[in-house]
Amino acid sequence: MESINVRTGIPYEALVERGLLDRAGELARRAVKGRRVMIAADETVAGLYLGRAEKSFARAGFGAASFVFPPGEGSKRLAVVEKMLMEADRRGLTRTDCFVSLGGGVTGDMTGLAAALYLRGVDFIQIPTTLLAMVDASVGGKTAVNLPSGKNLCGTFYQPRMVLCDPALLNTLPSPILAEGMAEVIKHGAICSPALLDRIQSGAAAGELIADNIRIKSGIVERDERESGERKLLNLGHTFGHALEKLSGYSIYHGEGVAVGILIAAYAAERSGRCERGVFDELKRLLQARGLPVGTPFTAAEIASGAMNDKKRAGDQLTVVLPERRGRSALCRIRAEELEPLIACCDGEVTGLCA
Ligand code: GLY
Repeated sequence: MESINVRTGIPYEALVERGLLDRAGELARRAVKGRRVMIAADETVAGLYLGRAEKSFARAGFGAASFVFPPGEGSKRLAVVEKMLMEADRRGLTRTDCFVSLGGGVTGDMTGLAAALYLRGVDFIQIPTTLLAMVDASVGGKTAVNLPSGKNLCGTFYQPRMVLCDPALLNTLPSPILAEGMAEVIKHGAICSPALLDRIQSGAAAGELIADNIRIKSGIVERDERESGERKLLNLGHTFGHALEKLSGYSIYHGEGVAVGILIAAYAAERSGRCERGVFDELKRLLQARGLPVGTPFTAAEIASGAMNDKKRAGDQLTVVLPERRGRSALCRIRAEELEPLIACCDGEVTGLCA
């Protein structure tokens, strides 16, 4: 079993091994003291894995309740978190009890937020079931729901007590969902790891890349838990990606938005002389090979206007993440009015393409 210590203010373990779902209860005992857990899952994941998770927690002596909600980004709202809190209250969960997220990024973000709010904070455990959640969302303590004007605009930092990744769960993932996780893997390579780019290039399977990605992410989170500096690098592709998700009415997956967002950042960086040549071409090849989109019909003007609502905006300043060479990206502070001209060069190459 791979064990990664995430040394945040309150440290925790991220464990990676096939078959962990059936040992979740026993392993959770290492991290939480309570007698009861409430497992949150969407209807799809509940149908596949909730029974096994409940049995595992019951075998370890926990009383296990569940909260099941409709799948998709549309559920990522305060109203659903409120229902989760009311269910915990109805079940009488106390301060020593624990919330468990069983699912992808939406479930993890909402359950983490509910755990942070319930009784001013109870323990929670992440059991990610998607590649994206395993390599990114479940580690680092970002929790949030969306507001009508944009993604993740209401949330807090609240670290889990443990992260349990079972790569066998990837077997049931539809290919577009597996692919969107690869967008975050490629993002980690583009931010800080030429070695990871080499492994992706050589065709490594998603499951083999989980532990290394958690190491990359946890290293950054440990140095900047509250995202005052270095952690902003993890937003590579996200300012543009979130705008694309919103422009599409959330009909594209988060990872698909991030994939195109990474390419916008790379192309704009190369064209403005901030990045060495060749980075865009390689990232495009890697994303395409893993089944991700490499273009969008939305124009630079539309994307720039969508990105102005991004929470990384501070007054009329915006921090964008731009690649500067292979396996290295940097933060770039620009004025709001510089955003559209920065990405305008992408029209016809990444943006503004015929649908
Ligand atoms: N997903 C980016 C972060 O956790 O900071």
